[in-house]
Amino acid sequence: MRIDIITVLPELIESPLNHSIVKRARDKNLAEIVVHNLRDYSFDKHKRVDDYAFSGDAGMVMMVEPIFRAISALKLQRSYDEVIYTSPDGKMLNQQRSNYLSTLINIIILCGHYKGIDQRVRDHLITLEISIGDYVLSGGELAAAVITDSIVRLIPGALGDETSALTDSFQDSLLAPPVYTRPAEFNGWKVPDILLSGNDALIEKWKFEQSMERTKRLRPELLDEWGED
Ligand code: ADE
Repeated sequence: MRIDIITVLPELIESPLNHSIVKRARDKNLAEIVVHNLRDYSFDKHKRVDDYAFSGDAGMVMMVEPIFRAISALKLQRSYDEVIYTSPDGKMLNQQRSNYLSTLINIIILCGHYKGIDQRVRDHLITLEISIGDYVLSGGELAAAVITDSIVRLIPGALGDETSALTDSFQDSLLAPPVYTRPAEFNGWKVPDILLSGNDALIEKWKFEQSMERTKRLRPELLDEWGED
């Protein structure tokens, strides 16, 4: 899979995507992540990519032309399944959307900044707007990193243990069960006996019951609202 990220702050996005699972996936060529500086597509000598809003509102607006140039240059090289814009107005990121995005071949993520982008970009170039939560970030870079991380870890081979992405919280609309490691007892705090029993069937049953109990207690809406915005 290839992910092209267009931003005015490339250094903000490179670091979170250069560690751990995402780095490993990049090293194994499972995910090609290419960060582009929008200023490289600016048409003026000062490399400006924003201008005043026609409405007279305070705050700068990202201009249509550099974005058009950047996206067009990429589209000349390959076709894209989605051109994503990170915005608090977008559809909420959830596991179902990450699963869908992880099945795609090529995507572009355009990071929003300033007061927003010229609406014509959204009308004519963007195919999907994604929000990572009901709060406003200073820019779309951290959102793009979150989206990319959640997608890349789902690509087959990205995780050491092929099955572990499937047992993540939310993957089956349930929170994950609690996990324990050695020692079996610390400070008088014991690991549940069943996990030490060696009985795989009973352990699976226990894990499912724990998932159900935690989901009902902590996120009951997941049991009936999964997949809805
Ligand atoms: N840009 C600013 N806030 C955002 C959010 N919550 N999600 C995605 N992009 C954003």
